[in-house]
Amino acid sequence: MNEKATTLSALALLIVMGGAASAATKSITLPPDGVQLTPSTLPGYAKAQTNCVVCHSAEYMVYQPPNAARPYWDAMVKRMKAVFKAPIEDADMPEIVDYLAKTYGNEK
Ligand code: HEC
Repeated sequence: MNEKATTLSALALLIVMGGAASAATKSITLPPDGVQLTPSTLPGYAKAQTNCVVCHSAEYMVYQPPNAARPYWDAMVKRMKAVFKAPIEDADMPEIVDYLAKTYGNEK
């Protein structure tokens, strides 16, 4: 091996080791998993817990526009039932929508 090749392979080794070292020390922060519904004394809170976090966490509620009005939440709940077959009783919908609008929407 000539001198140049030795230097190159030493360099390559350094790069490999450097990569391993930084992979071991760097950390990333993932978005919170398993976000819980915001607790509330509203009757819709318990119903949302039964009906709305079965398929996904409450993270989806958190990321809706903060100025979303009641009809937006009403449409959302109906969409969950119609499109994704969420087993939500029609009778429970008004209380769930009430909770959502007051907890995540523009009625805060
Ligand atoms: C049967 C399963 C299921 C249930 C129960 C359910 N969802 Fe969903 N939800 C989904 C799926 C599937 C999506 C779409 C995921 C995607 O597009 O990546 C979604 C998406 C959402 C989103 C994100 C916005 C959007 O339009 O994609 C919100 C907000 C939401 N759901 C709220 C609710 C609420 C409120 C309830 C209770 C009334 C509920 N979900 C119940 C399956 C469900």
